[in-house]
Amino acid sequence: MADEVELAADQHVRYIVTVEKKKDSFESLVMEHIRLNGAYWGLTTLDLLHKLHAVDAAEVVDWIMSCYHPESGGFGGNVGHDPHVLYTLSAVQVLCLFDRLDVLDVDKVADYVAGLQNKDGSFSGDIWGEVDTRFSYIALCTLSLLHRLHKIDVQKAVDFVVSCKNLDGGFGAMPGGESHAGQIFCCVGALAITGSLHHIDRDLLGWWLCERQCKDGGLNGRPEKLADVCYSWWVLSSLVMIDRVHWIDKEKLTKFILNCQDKENGGISDRPDNAVDIYHTYFGIAGAAFIPIPWHFYRLSLMEYPGVKPLDPAYALPLHVVNRIFLKK
Ligand code: FPP
Ligand code: ZN
Repeated sequence: MADEVELAADQHVRYIVTVEKKKDSFESLVMEHIRLNGAYWGLTTLDLLHKLHAVDAAEVVDWIMSCYHPESGGFGGNVGHDPHVLYTLSAVQVLCLFDRLDVLDVDKVADYVAGLQNKDGSFSGDIWGEVDTRFSYIALCTLSLLHRLHKIDVQKAVDFVVSCKNLDGGFGAMPGGESHAGQIFCCVGALAITGSLHHIDRDLLGWWLCERQCKDGGLNGRPEKLADVCYSWWVLSSLVMIDRVHWIDKEKLTKFILNCQDKENGGISDRPDNAVDIYHTYFGIAGAAFIPIPWHFYRLSLMEYPGVKPLDPAYALPLHVVNRIFLKK
C-alpha cells in the first residue's frame, strides 16, 4: 500500500512555514478572516510531519491569546474579530498541540461554548444564532478536550444530532438536510466523542461513504460531485470511526492525493493541477497517511505511515496529543 508512495513531506513543511511567515502574500490575505483555522490546519500538519518545532511556540500562543475575548470567553478568527465557536475550537486545538491549555481560563471558555446550546439540544455558532450540526461537533469536541462536557445537556445534544440522520444512513446540517460527507464527519465525530455510535447503522452509512470514491480514485462529498482532496479526510475519518475504512480502495485514493501535490514548491490542491492551499495540504496529508485498520488498533498506534504521525479521527488532532489529554486526567 504505502511503499510506492512519495509524499513530498519536506516541500510541504517549507510551504507551510513560508505561508505562515509571508503575512502579506495573496493566500494570507484571502485567509485573513479565518487565520485561526489556518493556524490549526498548518500547525497540525507540521506536527504530523514531526516538524512542529519549526515555529516559535511562545509566539504562536501569544498570537492565539490576542484573538481571545475575555468578556465572552470565545475566540475570534483573528485579532479584533468577533468570537465564534469555530475559532474557539481551533484555538483550543492549537493550544493542545503545544500542551499549553494552562494559558486558558478553562471554565470561562467552556461557559462560552455551553452558553450556545439551544433548548432542542442543538448549538448556534455565535450570538447571531445560526444552527448547524457543525456547531454540535465543534461544541462537543471543544468541551471534551477541556474536560467540561458536564456543562451541557449531552443527551439532548446527541438527540439533536440523531434527528439529523437520513434514510440513506447519512447526516445533514439540520433535520431533513441533505446528506453531505462534511456534515457526516461532524455527526459521527459528535457521536464518537459522546460514546453514542450505536445510533449509526454502520453498514448503511459505510456503503454511502464508500460510494463517494470516484473513477479517478478521489472521494467526493455528495453524489454527482467531482472528487476533492479534502473529502479524503471527511470520508475516511468517518469510515474509521464506524470501522468500515477497509471498504475504500486506499491505493487509488493515495495516488489521487499524491497527484495533487506541488512536488517542487510544496502544498496540495483540491484536485490535480489546481492551486495549492493549506486546507487541502492538511487534509491531503491526513488522508494519504490513514492506515486502513480498525480504530481500536489505530488508537493503540500500532502502525504509522512512514514519516507521518497518526491522526485521531474524532478529535482531528495527532493521536499522541489526544492520548496526552485523556490519559493525563
Ligand atoms: C465541507 O465544507 C466540510 C464540512 C461541511 C465540515 C466542516 C466541519 C467543521 C468546520 C468542523 C471542524 C472540523 C475539524 C476538522 C476540526 P465545504 O464548504 O468545502 O463544502 P462543499 O464541498 O460542499 O463546498
Ligand atoms: Zn475541498
